[in-house]
Amino acid sequence: MRTVTSTSAMQKLALGWKRAGRRIGFVPTMGYLHAGHISLVEKARQKVGPDGIVVVSIYVNPTQFSPQEDLAKYPRDLARDQKLCRAAGTDLIFAPANDQMYPPVGRVPYSTYVAEEFLSQVMEGKARPVHFRGVTTVVAKLFNIVLPDVAVFGAKDYQQAAIITKMVRDLNFPIQIIVAPTLREPDGLAMSSRNKYLSPSERSQALSLSQALQQARAAVLKSPAGIPVERLRKHLLADFARHPAARVDYIEFFDPETLQPARSIRKGVHMAMAVYIGKTRLIDNGTLA
Ligand code: PAJ
Repeated sequence: MRTVTSTSAMQKLALGWKRAGRRIGFVPTMGYLHAGHISLVEKARQKVGPDGIVVVSIYVNPTQFSPQEDLAKYPRDLARDQKLCRAAGTDLIFAPANDQMYPPVGRVPYSTYVAEEFLSQVMEGKARPVHFRGVTTVVAKLFNIVLPDVAVFGAKDYQQAAIITKMVRDLNFPIQIIVAPTLREPDGLAMSSRNKYLSPSERSQALSLSQALQQARAAVLKSPAGIPVERLRKHLLADFARHPAARVDYIEFFDPETLQPARSIRKGVHMAMAVYIGKTRLIDNGTLA
């Protein structure tokens, strides 16, 4: 397994693999990898087969963080990530520095962005205004550098996966997007690089997110004809209020394709939430099947 830091070297390698007829599977990440990321690497390998090439990118992308967010303290550990990737059968890590990804051209600063303008207006897009423009920009750039046939994203970031799938359709990228299931800790907490910020007491209160999903699923099973959105939201907010470290940013119920708010809650509606546990902002989502 090799690690490449230059965009031009990466693109040259990818062009070579393509000419040789090898399929490229790609998993974009911001590093500090956990089993959730590794499950995406395994999925990519499954998709391209033993003769394919699996590339993992590790890049904490500054354009998707707003100035008040946790860019500087986002956890990083390349040596550890390299070990995990090697063990999972990764062929190459692409780990560029900022001056590789957003260089000025001559005397003109970096100045081209990709923005999806429908699905990115709600939920994370409302809470984090520049976020998705940064995500679509960096992912479009990574696609042009790594030239994948298949790229794998996690359902943990449901809205992100929906927006990238839409970008690929809208902009005709010849890439198959796979959305793989959310990997969870045995007690239900969705795996996240940000979980490492949680104190022991916060770690137990962080369970309130997956519990809210379970509560909503149980409610739908009990009332298959549908539940008024505000009634369920109020009920879930009351549950969160029992956790002193929890502060709900949003809980939304929506159509899984359009991400537009559901009129009533029933089977097939999707639920997503963002909740601060202490200073750490966690997200989770799932279908209310
Ligand atoms: P990051 O948060 O590192 O996540 C990389 C990928 O891992 C994303 O597709 C995310 O959905 C997936 N992932 C995270 N936790 C997961 C879990 N518990 N189970 C399954 N998959 C999980 O998402 C980003 O980075 C960035 O926005 C990126 C797409 C790399 C662009 O910068």
